[in-house]
Order: sequence, then C-alpha cells, then structure tokens
Amino acid sequence: MYGDFACSGVRPLRRDFRHTGSVWPSSPILAQAMTSAIAAIDGPRRVLEVGPGTGPFTKSILRKLRAGDHFEMVEINRNFCRKLEKDLLSGYRDRHPNVTVRLHCAPIEEARVEGPFDVIVCGLPFNNFPPKLMRQIFRRMFELLKDDGELVYFEYAGVRVLKGPIMDSAGRARLKRINAYGQSLRRHHDGSKELILGNFPPAIAYRLKGERRTSIAAKSDAKSGGKASKKASGTRARRERQRA
Ligand SMILES: C[S@@+](CC[C@H](N)C(=O)[O-])C[C@H]1O[C@@H](n2cnc3c(N)ncnc32)[C@H](O)[C@@H]1O
Repeated sequence: MYGDFACSGVRPLRRDFRHTGSVWPSSPILAQAMTSAIAAIDGPRRVLEVGPGTGPFTKSILRKLRAGDHFEMVEINRNFCRKLEKDLLSGYRDRHPNVTVRLHCAPIEEARVEGPFDVIVCGLPFNNFPPKLMRQIFRRMFELLKDDGELVYFEYAGVRVLKGPIMDSAGRARLKRINAYGQSLRRHHDGSKELILGNFPPAIAYRLKGERRTSIAAKSDAKSGGKASKKASGTRARRERQRA
C-alpha cells in the first residue's frame, strides 16, 4: 500500500475481454447520468465507484466532491490502478486535502472497503460475467449501500439481443439468467432506467435503491398488523428461489 492506493489482494489479471467489456471508455454524457445522484445529497457524502477503468466516471465524481466527502474506488486491473493514481488521483489529493480519496486495487468481492455509502457507481460489464459472480457482486454492493442510498450501473442497449445469435446455447442461457437477475433487482429495489444515446454504443443507466423497500414493508406492516411482512417474506422466498 502506498499513499491511499491499497494494492493488496491483487490477482494477476488475464488480459481478456470479460473484465473490461468494452474497448471504448464511457462518454461524458453517460458519466453525468451515472453520477447525478451525488449532487442531490446534502452534507458530507460517501461515494464508492466499482470498476473505474481509466476513469471516465471518476472524473465526473471528483468534480462533484466537496470538502468532508469520502470517495473510494475498487478496480481489479493493476494497470488501470496505476494510470488512475498517476493521471487523476494524486494531483486531486494535493489540490483537495479535505476530501478523502482511496483506491483499492482488488476485486470488489474481496476488497477491504467499509460502508455504508450514499452512492455506488458501478461500471462492471455484467453481461460478460457468470450469473453467480454477478449475484455475489450485487450482494456485496447492497451490503455496502445505505438503506436510502442509490446504486447505479449500466449496460449497452440491446447488448443481449445483439450477442444472442452469435453465442452457443450455453452462452444464451447465461445471458437469459443475467437478464432475469437484472429484472429481479429492479423489481425489488425500486429500479428505474435511463437510455443514454450520447454514448458509443448507446447505454442504459439503471438506478436501484437500498433496502428501502424492506423498510417501507416494515412500516406498512405496523399499520396492517402483519400482512405486509407476510408479503415481504414471500418476496424474499421468491428472491431466494431465483438465486438458487
Ligand atoms: C467496462 S469497464 C468500465 C470502465 C469505466 N467505468 C467506463 O465506463 O469506461 C469495467 C472495469 O471494471 C473492472 N473490473 C472488472 N471486474 C471487476 C471486479 N470484480 N472488481 C473490480 N473491478 C472490476 C475492469 O478492470 C474494468 O476497468
């Protein structure tokens, strides 16, 4: 570990497309959509970015931070970590000593990060991941997110429709499970989406809420004498079945 650049627990990265998922960095328009929740929060904010790559979302986040804010990044690729540190972070820290900025060069599944965060901005290419890893990473991110926080992630528009025909049946089955899990996340976390045409390729930003739904169910439970908790436990059971 040097400075605030924690490089422990790094696995050698296979130079494959699975981790990066794109040859183009995201556009400033997508970066603005992905980071817009930060400006809406009062007081000192805690922000986590997962998979910053070369930093298109990082730049947008850094521009929004104020004295007292706390910003952590988790990036699996050692080369990207070095580049981020050199090009963006060390200079930013010098100019903004009252903002905490930390980079963990590790997979999010293993990184030593402590929540809770108000906003999590996630740039991971889930359509390239095994569904089990996607579920593991979302579980980790929700553990790190405040109950009233927001988790934002994105995918390229129509990516599964375009990829399906060139994949074998196992690949298509994997994409179907990724899609089903994404839909279930959006149902259970008050999800919303925004189509961003000003990116190449066009992208969809998805916004998910923290465990807010559970707390809404708990409140209405008190009013309804337990009916809401039955509904919530039914939802949880359904969720478990989908995970299995
Ligand atoms: C699609 S790129 C996104 C880069 C950037 N946010 C953008 O939109 O241009 C995905 C990034 O996630 C990183 N990554 C992949 N798996 C990861 C993991 N498990 N934990 C942390 N970072 C990961 C990759 O190394 C890559 O930098």
